[in-house]
Amino acid sequence: MTHVLLTGATGHLGSYLVRDLLSQGFVPAIVIRDAQLSAEERFRQLIADLQLDPNGTLPVFISGDTALPDFGMSPQALDWVRHHCRHLMHSAATVQFNNSPSNEIMRANTNTARHAADLFRSCRMEKLVYVSTAYVCGRRSGTIYEGELDLDQPFRNDYENSKMFAEKLLRSSVPEEQLIVVRPAIIVGDSTTGETRQFHSIYRFAQFTSILADAASKDANGQWEHNVRLTVSADKPLNLVAVDWVSAATVEIFKQFKHERFNTFHLTPSEPTRLREIEAALQHCFNYFGVTFVGNMPELTDRSEREDFFYGYVSSYLDYWRDDPQFDRRHADQYLRDIHEPRIDEEFLKRTFRSAVAKRFGKLKAQRTAR
Ligand SMILES: NC(=O)c1ccc[n+]([C@@H]2O[C@H](COP(=O)([O-])OP(=O)(O)OC[C@H]3O[C@@H](n4cnc5c(N)ncnc54)[C@H](OP(=O)(O)O)[C@@H]3O)[C@@H](O)[C@H]2O)c1
Repeated sequence: MTHVLLTGATGHLGSYLVRDLLSQGFVPAIVIRDAQLSAEERFRQLIADLQLDPNGTLPVFISGDTALPDFGMSPQALDWVRHHCRHLMHSAATVQFNNSPSNEIMRANTNTARHAADLFRSCRMEKLVYVSTAYVCGRRSGTIYEGELDLDQPFRNDYENSKMFAEKLLRSSVPEEQLIVVRPAIIVGDSTTGETRQFHSIYRFAQFTSILADAASKDANGQWEHNVRLTVSADKPLNLVAVDWVSAATVEIFKQFKHERFNTFHLTPSEPTRLREIEAALQHCFNYFGVTFVGNMPELTDRSEREDFFYGYVSSYLDYWRDDPQFDRRHADQYLRDIHEPRIDEEFLKRTFRSAVAKRFGKLKAQRTAR
């Protein structure tokens, strides 16, 4: 059995990676840090959430913190990793779009990448999979190619910048034939159930709408007026991808990878979602009228109080709505012919918004359903 050291397993994507690695015959050895619960309790919780068969193959638990050298593992755990883990899949990151004054996000994401590279080399592993992001391209527009990285692009936030630096660091310290970089676009919920563990991006818009819906005075049909002008065009594409597809695609590339000329893969949609689909799903779920698309413009000069509230709430995400680029994914396509890619359409969005409301946008723990 081949063991894969996996970070970020308690996260939105990582929990799917655990399940997909197991289903493809790998044994994930997962590094979990203490939080409100101890690392070991969190491990047990994860196994229960994933509804793994207790009599089948289970992941191996390792207590650790990717912010520390050797992931802060005990000497015994490190020795075990050295003898058992042939590969490393590094998905842990600080995923946060508000910049921190102390450069905390930059430090966190580059340090964990450095520790991953050091551990990979010292344990003489074979393949390192790094989960980067398509948004290492920053604010570039037009078509973005998988072979591109640092073109002096400006970034929307420290998170994007930190992921670019982390990628550069890994590229300079791991031989290219051993490094696989996957770059997902904006990850949303499960394509079948709509469930999500993370409530950024489109969920932030839904949460805002839900707060207003709760407080609104409604007509006899339960409808309410939501007067907000969106300074974007309804036809703009947004690059959303389902978490289960990103995970399945990552494991497929990892399994099949043979370094030829490239090692970087855009996990981006072949047919992006249009903003009008998101708006239609929000209208359907929250039963309002009044939102209008006024086309791309920098800022409204005559905002209402509600618009001030709206733009304050979603500003770090609206930036992506304005100018999401087009991602070329011809490298990834060579590996993903057999992996079904669900489109993020209006029906999916309705499902995922309903699920997010039911989970009170993360206040209730997401239940997961086996695929
Ligand atoms: N979400 C997106 O839209 C998106 C898009 C493109 C790329 N990505 C990339 O995909 C990867 C996974 O993202 P996600 O959405 O699944 O994020 P997430 O739900 O926030 O999960 C992040 C994971 O990283 C772990 N982690 C962070 N710092 C750690 C540390 N010091 N020690 C141990 N574990 C640590 C977290 O553990 P705790 O549970 O202990 O916090 C959690 O398991 C990230 O690399 C992210 O940059 C995400």
